[in-house]
Amino acid sequence: MTVGRVLVTAQVVGDAVARLREAGHDVVFRDVDAPMPRGELLAALPGVDALVSMLVDRVDAEVLDAAGPGLRVVANVAVGYDNLDVAACRERAVVVTNTPGVLTDATADIAMSLILMSTRGLGAAERRVRTGTPWRWSLTAHLGVGLRGKTLGIVGPGAIGLATTRRAKAFGMEVLLSGRSSPDPAVVGELDARVVDLDALLTASDVVSLHCPLTPATRHLIGERELRLMRPGAHLVNTSRGPVVDEAALVAALAAGEIAGAGLDVFEDEPRVHPGLLGREDVVLLPHVGSATVETRTAMADLAVANVLAVLAGAPALTPVGG
Ligand code: DGY
Repeated sequence: MTVGRVLVTAQVVGDAVARLREAGHDVVFRDVDAPMPRGELLAALPGVDALVSMLVDRVDAEVLDAAGPGLRVVANVAVGYDNLDVAACRERAVVVTNTPGVLTDATADIAMSLILMSTRGLGAAERRVRTGTPWRWSLTAHLGVGLRGKTLGIVGPGAIGLATTRRAKAFGMEVLLSGRSSPDPAVVGELDARVVDLDALLTASDVVSLHCPLTPATRHLIGERELRLMRPGAHLVNTSRGPVVDEAALVAALAAGEIAGAGLDVFEDEPRVHPGLLGREDVVLLPHVGSATVETRTAMADLAVANVLAVLAGAPALTPVGG
């Protein structure tokens, strides 16, 4: 018996789609490892009961209207959901879900990797070897800075920010936390961290790592003024969303020596990267791989599909946005 029509807009890892079919749903699975072109998406939507969306799919009123009144759930295969117009979904009584929890460790691992790569200049060092540029060992070549005793500022102390804190503590760092809401004081105490306001964090940190969601309040949270507050030897790491940083201001701050380097997994206008970043030796650039492990991407698809199965069965969603 077919109980619902489900559109999955791109390839996912694992066998989550098979579970939708086993449950009797009619699945339109675009088994392609690339974003669904807008026109194709709009054409595939009429009559859909559930949409499994990727963070590159813009789900707005046009998409919701194309799906029609039968749409019951939008399950984003991501923890971030700035690609979804949540208010427009609510107006149409469409449940919105994301994938919190399952990508915490993978993303914190990449934040820590970028902290290490940026402070040790590993991108430039790797490029030197790879490009065949002559090198030989010396006491003074490729000097980075060590992490022990340095201060890490975590902007957005949610699950991923706190998981990054735990890793940084193991490297001997002091940690400052700043965000819209403060974490549980017991957790802050257990982590031996300190909650401060953003300006204090920026002025006191050797590394600033961004973990906040993209909202109107956090768009360009780190701009010209904030970069000026940072130390000349400081590094900026971003594994959250690109538009949290004003990229033009970052390029200018790096060029002016206002900060020492940056490690970026996300960009303002992905997949485009600001040309001012591409030629710089003091930046590490990754193609949005924060959650890119087999285990994590499988768990993300599983959770998104579990949300769809629950809602289409008339049960509450497992991880509703704002729920
Ligand atoms: C997310 O889930 O929001 C991540 O950016 C995916 O890597």
